[in-house]
Amino acid sequence: METVVSGIRPTGQLHLGNYFGAVKNFLRMQKEYNCYFFIADYHSLTTHPTPSDLHSNVRQVLAEYLAAGLDPELATLYVQSDLPEVAELTLLLNMNAYLGELERTTSFKDKARQQPENVNAGLLTYPVLMAADILIHHAAKVPVGKDQEQNLEMTRKFAGRFNRMYNTEYFPIPQPFNYGEQLVKIPGLDGSGKMGKSEGNGLYLADDAKTITKKVMKAVTDAGPTTPNSEMPESVRNLFTLLDVVSTADTVQHFKDKYNTCDIRYGDLKKQLAEDIIAFNAPIRERILDISSNDDYLSKVVKMGKEKAHESAAKTMKEVREILGFRSF
Ligand code: TRP
Repeated sequence: METVVSGIRPTGQLHLGNYFGAVKNFLRMQKEYNCYFFIADYHSLTTHPTPSDLHSNVRQVLAEYLAAGLDPELATLYVQSDLPEVAELTLLLNMNAYLGELERTTSFKDKARQQPENVNAGLLTYPVLMAADILIHHAAKVPVGKDQEQNLEMTRKFAGRFNRMYNTEYFPIPQPFNYGEQLVKIPGLDGSGKMGKSEGNGLYLADDAKTITKKVMKAVTDAGPTTPNSEMPESVRNLFTLLDVVSTADTVQHFKDKYNTCDIRYGDLKKQLAEDIIAFNAPIRERILDISSNDDYLSKVVKMGKEKAHESAAKTMKEVREILGFRSF
């Protein structure tokens, strides 16, 4: 079975966009591949979180992914810093990563612009740490969004360079993962663009009913259609896209008809949408609350993941040290 590796940044809560995007793919992959999913807490140190924020973010993200359906019996689910082999592999790969190529990485340039007071070496070598995450398990495939394509390209480059340098085919060159199906892009409620944390337009899986209602009722629309069967503005189309994923086909059709005959009342549409999102979220939200109050369960999951991940990582490091020429006396 092919190995898939993916890192999850411990930044904030899961929203519907994540759920119908990355999470949906994870749930399918865990059944079809040998998956290693980890919370990338080493990576998050590049922005200097406080120790208590770091821990609570890791905990929150872990609880939410478990609640959303990641199964620690199917996938190896671990915390990156529980695998210090990754730090060692990063150090070794750093010797063959060049300043010029690291400085040219888009994500480095972006970050350096965003936090000019903290352009640390960890930001520069972020792609090397990511390569270590991937190569330590000999991944064949890595699911990556647009923003991570270049980082995966760097991993491929580092793996190929290592193989050439030591005249081996030790590291497989990982491919970007693609199910070949378009995922629905979940829009935000602010009229245009997709749902995102930085956009501040997220409907979170952990949101309670009141919060969801408030957010949905404030969604941007227009003045309403005046000619039958007119084209919808983006803001209204977005509400229908959301309705599509959480409501029944009948409900969607009902409001489409109303729109087409110019009888639609956006207030009714929003009320229905809020209700259906609340119903959709309810069981997941309940599991989030359950799991995040269950220390025993969380520590059991983390321990199990750590052991499984360590097995794979320790083997790789033993072989890499051998290839590099480290010998015991
Ligand atoms: N850089 C990824 C992100 O920002 C997270 C990540 C870290 C990752 N290591 C990885 C993703 C390895 C895939 C494989 O989302």
